[in-house]
Amino acid sequence: MASAWWPCLILALLSSLAASGLPRSPFRLLGKRSLPEGVANSIEVYSTKISCKVTSRFAHNVVTTRAVNRADTAKEVSFDVELPKTAFITNFTLTIDGVTYPGNVKEREVARKQYEKAVSQGKTAGLVKASGRKLEKFTVSVNVAVGSNVTFELTYEELLKRHKGKYKMYLKVQPKQLVKHFEITADIFEPQGISMLDAEASFITNDLLGSALTKSFSGKKGHVSFKPSLDQQRSCPTCTDSLLDGDFTIIYDVNRESPANVQVVNGYFVHFFAPQGLPVVPKNVAFVIDVSGSMAGRKIEQTRDALLKILEDMKKDDYLNFILFSGDVTIWKDHLVQATPENLQEAREFVKNIDENGMTNLNDGLMMGISMLNQAREEHRIPERSTSIVIMLTDGDANIGERRFEKIQENVRNAIGGKFPLYNLGFGTNLNYNFLETMALQNHGFARRIYEDSDANLQLQGFYEEVANPLLTGVEVEYPENAILDLTQNNYQHFYDGSEIVVAGRLVDKDMNSFKADVKGHGAINDLTFTEEVDMKEVEKALQERDYIFGNYIERLWAYLTIEQLLEKRKNAYGEEKENLTAQALDLSLKYHFVTPLTSMVVTKPEDNEDQMAIADKPGEGGDRDSVLSSFASTASSQQPSTPYYYVDGDPHFIIHVPEKDDAICFNIDEEPGTVLRLIQDPVTGLTVNGQVIGDKKGSPDSKTIKTYFGKLGVTNTQMDLRIEVATEKITLWNGAAQSTFSWLDTVTVTQDGLSMTINRKKNMVVSFGDGVTFVVVLHQVWKKHPVHQDFLGFYVVDSHRMSVQTHGLLGQFFHPFDFKVSNIRPSSDPTKPDATMVVKNHQLTVTRGSQKDYRKNATIGTKVACWFIHNNGEGLIDGVHTDYIVPDLF
Ligand SMILES: *[C@@H]1O[C@H](CO)[C@@H](O)[C@H](O)[C@H]1NC(C)=O
Ligand SMILES: *[C@@H]1O[C@H](CO)[C@@H](O)[C@H](O)[C@H]1NC(C)=O
Ligand SMILES: *[C@@H]1O[C@H](CO)[C@@H](O)[C@H](O)[C@H]1NC(C)=O
Ligand SMILES: *[C@@H]1O[C@H](CO)[C@@H](O)[C@H](O)[C@H]1NC(C)=O
Repeated sequence: MASAWWPCLILALLSSLAASGLPRSPFRLLGKRSLPEGVANSIEVYSTKISCKVTSRFAHNVVTTRAVNRADTAKEVSFDVELPKTAFITNFTLTIDGVTYPGNVKEREVARKQYEKAVSQGKTAGLVKASGRKLEKFTVSVNVAVGSNVTFELTYEELLKRHKGKYKMYLKVQPKQLVKHFEITADIFEPQGISMLDAEASFITNDLLGSALTKSFSGKKGHVSFKPSLDQQRSCPTCTDSLLDGDFTIIYDVNRESPANVQVVNGYFVHFFAPQGLPVVPKNVAFVIDVSGSMAGRKIEQTRDALLKILEDMKKDDYLNFILFSGDVTIWKDHLVQATPENLQEAREFVKNIDENGMTNLNDGLMMGISMLNQAREEHRIPERSTSIVIMLTDGDANIGERRFEKIQENVRNAIGGKFPLYNLGFGTNLNYNFLETMALQNHGFARRIYEDSDANLQLQGFYEEVANPLLTGVEVEYPENAILDLTQNNYQHFYDGSEIVVAGRLVDKDMNSFKADVKGHGAINDLTFTEEVDMKEVEKALQERDYIFGNYIERLWAYLTIEQLLEKRKNAYGEEKENLTAQALDLSLKYHFVTPLTSMVVTKPEDNEDQMAIADKPGEGGDRDSVLSSFASTASSQQPSTPYYYVDGDPHFIIHVPEKDDAICFNIDEEPGTVLRLIQDPVTGLTVNGQVIGDKKGSPDSKTIKTYFGKLGVTNTQMDLRIEVATEKITLWNGAAQSTFSWLDTVTVTQDGLSMTINRKKNMVVSFGDGVTFVVVLHQVWKKHPVHQDFLGFYVVDSHRMSVQTHGLLGQFFHPFDFKVSNIRPSSDPTKPDATMVVKNHQLTVTRGSQKDYRKNATIGTKVACWFIHNNGEGLIDGVHTDYIVPDLF
């Protein structure tokens, strides 16, 4: 509650001070409103630098402005910085003629007392107040003697959050005069590698930005610099006013080859998680829309516009309904309906005719929306694997029906029962935003302000896009028990496409060598577990470019996240719990020097610590708090072994183990690259496995002895309407039309009815169909620049006992017991490889003793397996001839 009036109080004190004519030394900090006009004419701001260092999304920004008083009397100079609402100020210093006055973070109440004391002695203050949509303003004014220099240096930090696939850093630029040295520099260091980097300025076209702007990125580093000359700053060639007025935005993203990334420095770790390539979970949306009289005019028009646009983006598996509330509640349909083309058409008609009038019965509107979702679930009207959300839009406070905030919150909490999130959109400023925010937070959602502006419809759509694509629900991030302390939030109801889950914590043992993190979640079709093995040595290597990053950034990132989450929880707590949360957040704010709603920055005269002037406060409303989500999964890690086994690996070498004989048979198939061979086909279980042959890289020096391998495997289960394509770059899983893609850099387990699939990062993949069918695919990676060879796959059947006797294919035909006899072992030209006579399937063959390798345990050094080699593409061993097994494509 203090947040709202505290800055005002400072202003009030300032005005009374100005009136009382108290002495003004050694310097005076003033609120902006008491600044005289035209101050800039005699104060020359000769340098403004914004220097940003971003390491792993954590931004540390320093704004430095230097000015000199060229007038013949003392003047006031004001220093304004607009900073993101989500940022915490961490330092502020003033330097006047070489003397630095440092800033200290104090508890608000303590700061206030000191401030009042300072005021009574005629020395005063500055403030931070909410300003734009995304920004809040830090303002300080100081009296500067004739010819004196002043330097302001403000530092703030924030964790950049990923929205719609990008991190954005907003820097407000508004020098108000031409500045000789104006410069923005940003150095970005991302251990995952930067995938895109851009910079935009709202106040200038890209053409004009041209020579003033440089941006580049390569590997882990990115750099942006904006350095307009005096002439480039002019609003016209002969003008003396500045063109620079608006947002300078730096936009980037990191490589997503791997779904997760963990970094550890000095015993603190941060875990980023953002999987790609998963199908969207269908969602059931109750749109609860305020159509009371106050929405009349542009607001209702913009709402209709936005809803029409949102309807265009609805997917056919989604369900929806509209609940309109004013004095009473109107519904579009009696229950949620699927987003079929016909229903969407009808919905559009309904939306176009939405009209406003009457009072605001917010409670009944919300309760209706919630009960519809509950009912749809109970009556199984919606898909089992779907997720529900309530989106409520209102522009005012409840004024009819249940009007008590706490009662409405209680009703909503009880009705939702933690089952799905509530998102509250507050339209305009004529409402109690804290109420909406608390209610959303109590129900795993968040609140957003929709600013009454020409783009309100776009704001609404923008919000919807963020929650339109849940990829996982019930996300839980798990670490080894007893190894981790002080974990930030680790369960989320949703993971939305384009966002990112960030969890930070502390290691119990700073010197541990490795640890494992599991992220479990429910996908659209299956349950997934992503496993991240963290090897400290590798992590250290990734962070080696130390000079590019700022020291203990992970610890600060952890503190930032922890404070942010404590403050959020606090909004929603009472009594002792609230006190406890407050105490924890305050401790951390003081320890890490963050200006939060619980602390203030105080600028101290260096020679006298008691003589202090209050400065930076953070206003209350959290503004753009961010999203994301929650819930879970189960996995079955399947592992072999079971005899007998069958496999094909290398230059396709087929190995058939015959346990009765404790021996093996092997053969090669030589075919042109591109050929697809049928390995397994079982009409009873509906399982088929095909493999596509690849050759060495083009330009191989001697093409006669060109080697071939399997480069792609296609596994089909017709009963499950499921296909898996395993290539050397990625693995794609189709459930009907729904597609999930995984990288060989993932360690992930996918489970669904009848299927368990585990990818072990860069090593192998284990696929089981229920009990009794398990395949392993081994990835062979060669040196990327190898002149001849390329990556290939090995395929192993480690359990086939549930496959039918009708199973066929180059491997499948051997799943049934068969016998062979070897006789007349005799020396051949190679003494280590004797020949012999084999009788098998009524054929008499000449075979040669040889060996092949089994790479299941280690793809680099296989285990030798001795076998009898059948010549000529398995002629006489396999049914028919090998060309009978050629099929047109993988599936
Ligand atoms: C604040 O900034 C000043 C000037 O750069 C620096 O000397 C001081 O160490 C900083 N304080 C903190 C707590 O970082
Ligand atoms: C103020 O700074 C300017 C520019 O750096 C310098 O030329 C001048 O001497 C300084 N004045 C004082 C009083 O320090
Ligand atoms: C605050 O909460 C922490 C963690 O739950 C607990 O250890 C501590 O005792 C609590 N302190 C108070 C004053 O309730
Ligand atoms: C495979 O063997 C190589 C060589 O001994 C070894 O460096 C590597 O760690 C082994 N890989 C596994 C997964 O055991």
